Amino acid sequence: MRVTDTSDLWWKTAVFYNLDVETYLDWNDDGVGDLEGLAHRLDHLAELGVTCLWLAPFYPSPQRDNGYDISDYYGVDPRYGHLGDFVEVVRTARDRGMRVIVDLVVNHTSDQHPWFRAARSSPDSRFREFYQWRDDVPADQPANMFPDVEDGVWSYDDEAGQYYRHSFYSHQPDLATDRQAVRDEIAKVIGFWLQLGIDGFRVDAVPHLIATDDGAEHEFLQALRGYVSRRSGGGMMLGEVNLPYDEMVPFFGADDGDELTMQFDFVANQALYLALARQDAGPLRAALAARPALARGNQWGNFVRNHDELTLDQLSDDERDEVFEAFAPLESQRIHGRGIVRRLPPMLDGDPRRIRMVYSLMFSTPGAPVLFYGEEIGMGENPAVRGRGAVRTPMQWTDEAGGGFSRAPADDLTAPLAVEGWAPEHVNVSRQRHETDSLLRFVQGLARHYRASPEIGWGELTLLESGHDCVLAHAVSSSTGTLVAVHNFAPDGRSVDLDLAPLGLDLGDGVRLTDLLGERTSPDEASAAGRHRVELEGYGHRWLRVLRPDEKRLV
Ligand code: GLC
Repeated sequence: MRVTDTSDLWWKTAVFYNLDVETYLDWNDDGVGDLEGLAHRLDHLAELGVTCLWLAPFYPSPQRDNGYDISDYYGVDPRYGHLGDFVEVVRTARDRGMRVIVDLVVNHTSDQHPWFRAARSSPDSRFREFYQWRDDVPADQPANMFPDVEDGVWSYDDEAGQYYRHSFYSHQPDLATDRQAVRDEIAKVIGFWLQLGIDGFRVDAVPHLIATDDGAEHEFLQALRGYVSRRSGGGMMLGEVNLPYDEMVPFFGADDGDELTMQFDFVANQALYLALARQDAGPLRAALAARPALARGNQWGNFVRNHDELTLDQLSDDERDEVFEAFAPLESQRIHGRGIVRRLPPMLDGDPRRIRMVYSLMFSTPGAPVLFYGEEIGMGENPAVRGRGAVRTPMQWTDEAGGGFSRAPADDLTAPLAVEGWAPEHVNVSRQRHETDSLLRFVQGLARHYRASPEIGWGELTLLESGHDCVLAHAVSSSTGTLVAVHNFAPDGRSVDLDLAPLGLDLGDGVRLTDLLGERTSPDEASAAGRHRVELEGYGHRWLRVLRPDEKRLV
């Protein structure tokens, strides 16, 4: 690769940041975040080092699933502003060096969408075929995605006189995406938002969206991606596919990765939490070793936390119990029998070393990092909010009442703020901007080093021997250079004798390693030929850049 390739396949080295306009910043003080508020905080995001915003659904919606129940694909929920405000955000973001992607939620609509209202009203409606209908419930119906809320995926609609399918809540009828008429409508929606200047989509619930096994469904995904690329040269699709690696691969596309551009790495995410619970890097090492190779244009999205439950559905029952016991001992901290409704810092008892180690890992793992708003300052959840809403509290900007999110009375806020030790009084952007050693400054540094190290996004991964089960040592190498990273999952320090032989490096030959994050000043020792000694503190982390004698990189 050439360094200039990074601006072409931009997503491979992007720093993504997911936020919900509703909970980000309320500019008119009505208690609900808005696009104007977001526009005023684009500088915070640019300063952090974000290069691509992922906006959670902001479309008109009855709001029964945090906006993932859409009643109009072509608008903005009036509580957040209007389309003009949206375009202003996109334009201003671009000026600050940030692209914007939006959620594409087309597995289902809200039952309030005009298509469904028409469809249920008459079997003769031309929208009837937009949804999936049956006269009875099949004996072998699949489990609903919210198994403790919905009995199955078929519900009876009195008005329609038939059962309709819903993979998620019963107020979210599944679209019949095998119908050409539906596909044409989806293409129009995509075309609309691209025309407004966005650079792609986070695609919701992809395995449900193309659920049949006949292969024709992949043609649909391929066609969507082709359409995105034709309408917007740099357009991309980042898909939500929570499946084992071998089942994720087809969603990148068999033909040179021409379906989803990126997928979230749910496998490594779940392995990360098992590794943290055990204080043993093994599970994460194994996941990374098992990662399938990707085509040149594809990428993994690495994340620590997202807006949903922290799902542990790919772990075994025993493994899940280990993670539950370590990080969600209370039943109220769990959901759907498979996930945790907490953010990372409270799970780690606020231990700054451990929190930083985790984000250092996220930024140094091959792929592109995806932050969830508030992670940059270590926000916690509000345990009094039931379900996934616990992690969807308003962004904490200042220590004022309302957390600088809004001046509306507390009762009018769209969601309650975090409380106690995690309240805005203690955790907020304003304070951390002024502290040189804050988490905010730390994450900003990670983003800067990530952007300056394209080998993380483009390079080959080599897992190195560290000599300790608790220490993950890995290297990423491309023609731009090599970065070695070491992460300690245990609370006490370790002396790590890194074997660099697999990298073909001869340290005696003018090759040096330099500490990038600059947390330690003392140079580490080349302890023996091809080996390198690194002193790691408890929950410590290091990024080491390999400098060859003819190195031109700036360090
Ligand atoms: C995805 C979203 C989740 C939503 C579901 C149904 O899993 O991430 O928030 O509830 O789809 O749209």
